Amino acid sequence: MAKVTGLEGVVSAETDISLVDGEQGHLVYRGYWAKDLAVTKSYEEVAFLLWNGRLPERDELDQLEQRMANLRNIPEYICRIIDLLPLSVPMMAVLQTTVAALGETESSTWPPTLQQAERLSAILPTVIAYRYRKSQGLAIVEPDPKLEHVANYLYMLTDHLPDESHTRALNAYLILGMEHGMNASTFAGRVILSTQSDMSSAICGAIGTMKGPLHGGAPYEVIAMLEQIGTKDRAEPWIRNMLDNGERLMGFGHRIYKTKDPRAEALRIVTLNMTGQDPSFDLAIHVENTAIRLLEEYKPGRRLYTNVEFYAAAILRTIQLSPDLFTPTFTTARIVGWTTHILEQASVNRIFRPESVYTGSMPALG
Ligand code: CMC
Repeated sequence: MAKVTGLEGVVSAETDISLVDGEQGHLVYRGYWAKDLAVTKSYEEVAFLLWNGRLPERDELDQLEQRMANLRNIPEYICRIIDLLPLSVPMMAVLQTTVAALGETESSTWPPTLQQAERLSAILPTVIAYRYRKSQGLAIVEPDPKLEHVANYLYMLTDHLPDESHTRALNAYLILGMEHGMNASTFAGRVILSTQSDMSSAICGAIGTMKGPLHGGAPYEVIAMLEQIGTKDRAEPWIRNMLDNGERLMGFGHRIYKTKDPRAEALRIVTLNMTGQDPSFDLAIHVENTAIRLLEEYKPGRRLYTNVEFYAAAILRTIQLSPDLFTPTFTTARIVGWTTHILEQASVNRIFRPESVYTGSMPALG
């Protein structure tokens, strides 16, 4: 019997939220190409699409923007909890603590609601900015209700109105990161919710799943790789050394995509439009091409290509986000997909309870 690992090929739910076609390299959100949404719509518009199944009318969008702006502020007790956490506590753990502490009261835990989804999505960027600025010894920047979600995030982090091209690039990245079928963190969230647990618990589990380097923790490692490589001539020996030692190249490979990840393609174009052919972009392209060639040499037939994290790292570096913020920033995108799946799970709920194959010894019969 083949080894049973990683639930590969197992269908765990029906969904009408997104399609991930790994052979064609297609990603569809509710009937729209994600790559088109990324360059034509705002974070709030695509969040509305995922949560409600259709794009908003103008007045519906205005109302969602208003509601999310009103939900950005961190309650005083949450600020106090965050302040109690030593600075050595990583940002993803701060997010888990905050989300757990924001948990609803016992009487309103089931079923999860769209209001909870909007609230958690609205507040995460404020928590990240609050904690980040405290950790840097900088004054806190209150959210600005006049700014849209993405511009406000950059504003709270930096204390100045962001460059339009930075906002557009981050907006595209966040939209492309919002949703991706039954990825590990979404699955974790759906499993937790399926016990009729609450939205906050499911999101805490999803955040914990997201932070691993095989999932949302990869962009941080991509930057480390690009920095260690440094110049084009060092790319091939560096990559060969990694592969000779049986290491994985971060930002490459995907369980579903057996061709280029469409999100990576879209982000490559966004990065190029923003930076032009600058030296760091040139290096990224060179590393990408070298890695794909060497992966085919070392791992023939595995079809390992660039995934979203490779260009996520390039974009986030170009807009000068600290690498510590890469995975938390990915989280501010994927929270929309998680909460949408949690609402979908609640609407058709049956507890997840797969089986395992026992490979241990048996006691004597009788
Ligand atoms: N570098 C080198 N070899 C690799 C890589 C890689 N990045 N990815 C897969 N392989 C090899 C792996 O060693 C294995 O080789 P062999 O057949 O000789 O044992 C083969 O390809 C199949 O790998 P696998 O572990 O069965 O693949 P998987 O589907 O379980 O893992 C993955 C998918 C994304 C975890 C993996 O490709 C990986 O570790 N990539 C690097 C981390 C990364 O970039 N993660 C971000 C993923 S995209 C964001 C998201 O959607 O979560």
